[in-house]
Amino acid sequence: MRIAATADLHFTPQRLSPLHDQLNRVRDEADVFVVAGDLTNYGRPEEMEPLLNVLVRLRVPTIVVLGNHDYESGRESDLIRMMSEEGIKVLDGSAYERDGVGFAGTKGFVGGFGRGVLTAFGEPEIKTFVRASIDEALKLERAVSQLRTTKRVIVLHYSPVAGTVEGEAPEIYPFLGTSRLAEIVDRHGADLVLHGHAHNGKREAKTTGGVPVYNVAITLLQAQNPPTVYRVIDV
Ligand SMILES: [Fe+2]
Ligand SMILES: [Fe+2]
Repeated sequence: MRIAATADLHFTPQRLSPLHDQLNRVRDEADVFVVAGDLTNYGRPEEMEPLLNVLVRLRVPTIVVLGNHDYESGRESDLIRMMSEEGIKVLDGSAYERDGVGFAGTKGFVGGFGRGVLTAFGEPEIKTFVRASIDEALKLERAVSQLRTTKRVIVLHYSPVAGTVEGEAPEIYPFLGTSRLAEIVDRHGADLVLHGHAHNGKREAKTTGGVPVYNVAITLLQAQNPPTVYRVIDV
């Protein structure tokens, strides 16, 4: 299966026609299209509507997770409903199988990496914050456990490893993802992890268990030579 993957479209209506032209060939180059969060800039249904128009006209099965920007207006459930009604598979702690390949996805959350992972100690506010991070890891675990396929692709918005956020300011690493997500990936096994969010990160890294992690933020893809708007991966 050929997967075309991108993230961080941060779609606003002004971007409509260039984006449509750039994505037009996805159907010839891939069997499924994955968007790893931050589809919209402010999470408004008015942004989602024209974007949906573009996505539907690609006529390729599309799998998405939401990103933090898609939550900004508190309308995330409207966005999910709008996409689902058009046949787009929105993964939110859930799984989807297609042609023998299993996709498990969730947004993920912040929290830090390795020895720097924030733990639930001290003020209730810290505990609530850490709880949100653990909950997303549990959602991922629930999603992966549902898969019956040998080929597995994990879709996240936040990064599970520090390796693909390198290039961003080190001060903000803990806000770009958490290795709690990578622990789930390594415990259950996967062929590939796709994520976005770290617009200035690195394109590739691996989990400690050796699972390839691709940061498919569109900013990184467009900075390549030649620039692209999605990365095609064979699984
Ligand atoms: Fe983003
Ligand atoms: Fe983001």
